[in-house]
Amino acid sequence: MTDTQKTRVAVLVGSLRADSVNRKLAELLRDEAATDVVLDIVEGLDRLPFYNEDIDGENAPAAAVAVRERVALADRVLAVTPEYNGTLPAVLNNAIDWLSRPYGAGAISGKPFAVIGTTPTPYGGKWAHEDAARSAGIAGAKVVADATVSHPAGEGDVLVDRDARAKLHDAIAKLVAFAPETTAA
Ligand SMILES: Cc1cc2nc3c(=O)[nH]c(=O)nc-3n(C[C@H](O)[C@H](O)[C@H](O)COP(=O)(O)O)c2cc1C
Repeated sequence: MTDTQKTRVAVLVGSLRADSVNRKLAELLRDEAATDVVLDIVEGLDRLPFYNEDIDGENAPAAAVAVRERVALADRVLAVTPEYNGTLPAVLNNAIDWLSRPYGAGAISGKPFAVIGTTPTPYGGKWAHEDAARSAGIAGAKVVADATVSHPAGEGDVLVDRDARAKLHDAIAKLVAFAPETTAA
């Protein structure tokens, strides 16, 4: 199977930390992806300016154009993120904001979307994941509700334990299998 025949999943990582568990998780999931799936970790979220309509449009910043192009190429979008103060990290929400415009035609519009991640707390970042799903949905993505996984670190180290990682692979499989409802013409 060639890469063009595979389902392409753009991955947005919500942590910029060099030693980020969620980035390492995204890289592991990419390396272990099914043979018919490509996980493409979208780089450059840290170079996106804060979203500002005054700088968007025909002369949008190069960093935004690059991120939009990478996501536009994908069939699906997956966020892998920790939680900051009970919600999604600003870097991820900012990326979703850039991907939501032009209104109705943003790169995330119409793409099946799922969100997963891990944090050290017993809730595993569930508020971040709920909020990321809501933000992406309002941005025009088709949220795959049963593909959200909030993994508490106390329930197994997803970086070393393949069994602990299994539900994250399942979430990606659901995202890939998701067929948006079509309406009859
Ligand atoms: C500013 C800040 C706020 C945080 N708030 C939360 C929180 O609300 N809930 C939570 O589960 N963890 C919270 N954490 C802990 C992160 O989930 C934890 O540091 C996690 O490992 C970060 O993910 P990373 O390793 O991918 O960078 C917070 C961490 C930071 C730096």
